[in-house]
Amino acid sequence: MPTHRIAPSLLSANFSRLGEEVHAVVSAGADLIHFDVMDNHYVPNLTFGPMVLESIRPLTDVPLDVHLMVKPVDRIIPDFARAGANIISFHPEASEHVDRTLSLIRENGCMAGLVFNPATPLNWLDHVMDKVDLVLIMSVNPGFGGQSFIPQSLVKIREARAKIALTGRPIWLEVDGGIKPENISAVSLAGADTFVAGSAIFDSGNYLTAITSMRAALVGK
Ligand code: DX5
Ligand code: ZN
Repeated sequence: MPTHRIAPSLLSANFSRLGEEVHAVVSAGADLIHFDVMDNHYVPNLTFGPMVLESIRPLTDVPLDVHLMVKPVDRIIPDFARAGANIISFHPEASEHVDRTLSLIRENGCMAGLVFNPATPLNWLDHVMDKVDLVLIMSVNPGFGGQSFIPQSLVKIREARAKIALTGRPIWLEVDGGIKPENISAVSLAGADTFVAGSAIFDSGNYLTAITSMRAALVGK
């Protein structure tokens, strides 16, 4: 696994050919597959659940990175773990007991991630950092692909990187929303190591070119 990871988001894939899309981004160099779960309750959109994850699990060894935009969170976590998730991240506002949810994800054998909306403060991390394996900074408001990167996110990415550095642990710092070959360098300079990209890859017409140009722009890869 490289130190910088590119995670195509299936949200922008062609759902009528999901398996082929997974194969295509994996052959184009995807390090992770980002799987956006939306419930039309926590976010105003509806996507897919554990059964769809289970159907793509046999297609690849690439880790499956599940981004839960659902409320409540806890009941569905074991289902995603059983379906083959490797990473499960959730929004702290969507859980009644953030510490318990983080433990539950790890007990189910997955890396545990906490996701920060643009207006969500990083101090949710303060008392649970030892239970976090990944911090995911949203650089758009969650719910839809194809939105523009919010520049203020760069400040937050730097702050998150500083908090992670204090732990001395290899916590991943992922950024999600509006990532493109043109801005990925600034995002990596701010301290991110894992980059979700949906429309920039799936709407590009050439997945290999899109992923390769993102990787080429990464700083310190
Ligand atoms: C938004 C999702 C993102 C989305 C990113 O709620 O969490 O993962 O797919 O799409 P782009 O890269 O098009 O902004
Ligand atoms: Zn996402």
